[in-house]
Amino acid sequence: MTDLRVALITGAARGIGRAIALELARPGMVVYLNDVVLGDDAAWTREKVEAQGAQARLLGFNVADAAAVQAGIDQIIKESGRLDILVNNAGITRDNIIVRMKDAEWDQVLEVNLKGAFNCIRAVTKPMLKQRYGRIINISSVVGVMGNPGQANYVASKAGLIGLTKTVARELASRHITVNAVAPGFIQTEMTEALPQNVKDAMLAQIPLGRFGTPEEVAYAVAFLASEAAAYLTGQMIHVNGGMLMV
Ligand code: NAI
Repeated sequence: MTDLRVALITGAARGIGRAIALELARPGMVVYLNDVVLGDDAAWTREKVEAQGAQARLLGFNVADAAAVQAGIDQIIKESGRLDILVNNAGITRDNIIVRMKDAEWDQVLEVNLKGAFNCIRAVTKPMLKQRYGRIINISSVVGVMGNPGQANYVASKAGLIGLTKTVARELASRHITVNAVAPGFIQTEMTEALPQNVKDAMLAQIPLGRFGTPEEVAYAVAFLASEAAAYLTGQMIHVNGGMLMV
């Protein structure tokens, strides 16, 4: 390993992605912040990452667009010469009960959450194989294991990420590239803020620790998986859910 570490976090403008970027940000790190929306949120995240002594760069692509992803990764390799850490965090919801779910709702969620992760993993694999080092972390969800009414598309995408994680872990292990997942429970972000109060109350009743999680608490698990200390951990999933699901 060199002293310089280069990380790419997708969907890093706000929420959990932002917390991951801040947790990884320290001198010697180059943190590429991807988001499909590069507005004030992304600018704020960049400023904070730089304030912690890391280099920060914004990369505005849609993870569902394979050509744009490839161009983004090519840019990273051209500028920084390597890519050590990929965090597939970008995700969306388009909730509906199955009987009413539209093709577009199904397709959009699968395109971003699952195909987006595939696009990024495929694009980073070549440089990681070449450098014989890599850390890939996919953000799944507790509902990818438990199921959740009204989220057939989202749950299918998050369950798909678990299988993707295990398969790619087996494919890349011999080159010291580890591939793991983090499955957050109910985390307070703008994604979950939109839920009606009765849904939030029902969720809270299922959480032994009696509260929702913070984006930082997810980021700590991601940072561990991204570290040298996690070298013997691959194909695994860390659950960060306040005890909502125990596996
Ligand atoms: P958020 O909605 O606050 O942030 C998601 C970010 O991803 C936004 O900045 C958005 O612009 C970006 N994004 C969306 N589509 C994109 C695309 N096609 N390409 C690039 N960027 C895109 O969401 P939050 O809560 O921070 O979630 C982050 C991840 O954690 C998601 O994958 C989500 O499914 C997962 N998660 C969240 C939980 C929660 O309780 N908040 C629980 C379990 C998993």
